[in-house]
Amino acid sequence: MKPMKFAFRKKSEDTAGQVDFSRLPRHIAVILDGNGRWAKRRGLPRTAGHKVGAETFRTIATYCRDIGIEYLTVYAFSTENWKRPKDEVDTIMVLLKKYLLEAIDTMERDNVRLRFMGDMTPLSDELKELVDQCNAISRRLTGCLCSICINYGGRAELVHAAARFAEDCRVGLVKPEELTEEALSGYLYSAGIPDPDLLIRPGGEVRQSNFLLWQCAYSEFYFTDVLWPDFSKDELHRAIAAYQRRSRRFGGLQEGST
Ligand code: FPP
Repeated sequence: MKPMKFAFRKKSEDTAGQVDFSRLPRHIAVILDGNGRWAKRRGLPRTAGHKVGAETFRTIATYCRDIGIEYLTVYAFSTENWKRPKDEVDTIMVLLKKYLLEAIDTMERDNVRLRFMGDMTPLSDELKELVDQCNAISRRLTGCLCSICINYGGRAELVHAAARFAEDCRVGLVKPEELTEEALSGYLYSAGIPDPDLLIRPGGEVRQSNFLLWQCAYSEFYFTDVLWPDFSKDELHRAIAAYQRRSRRFGGLQEGST
């Protein structure tokens, strides 16, 4: 029998080959979106999507460390997400606890720093304690810094920063006229971290959703319909390759243009 011809077979795509690993973005931010739909499409409860989503985060964070991305910041729970059904919020908090407990055991070995951004006040005492432990271990390490945004909102972050600056003025530590863009950055949760070069949003929505409003002023945005639990290294390669094809001008002109 003659061998079958696969004239219509899709060529496998070498996604790693599309990336120039010598000029990677230093900082990648990701809005983790699409967990609920991923589960629904499979006839599963939404919480099943969050479980797989947490594993996807682990895979992508490890890979970012392996290839030399210095900073990864993810939006895991917004100030608005408390409006979701109690069992969904509870499951996300249980997943976080599980993640934190595992991280406390493995961070030093893996040299991955984990830190948390957002207003931790409404978290349980147990979670707050674990967050503090992770932050403390991270201060001793040097590897890829993964920031997980919990109870985070970009506008709330700016209000919080403004209030802290005002308080420093009141007690005489600084003067109002000393406020610069750089000084304000130092009052944000992200103080000390460079702005994201690339913001990735899986899940098909094309909006920023109150994420890193200040920090993403000049970030390149990459949107994909792939749902977060399905987000793979190949997807990350595609996003980085798209970023590398862009010309970043930060409001200026490209060299050689008139
Ligand atoms: C958005 O998908 C996802 C969330 C609101 C929760 C993300 C939380 C985790 C993955 C668990 C813990 C995280 C870490 C990093 C350990 P969605 O529910 O809005 O999806 P949908 O748009 O399809 O409904």
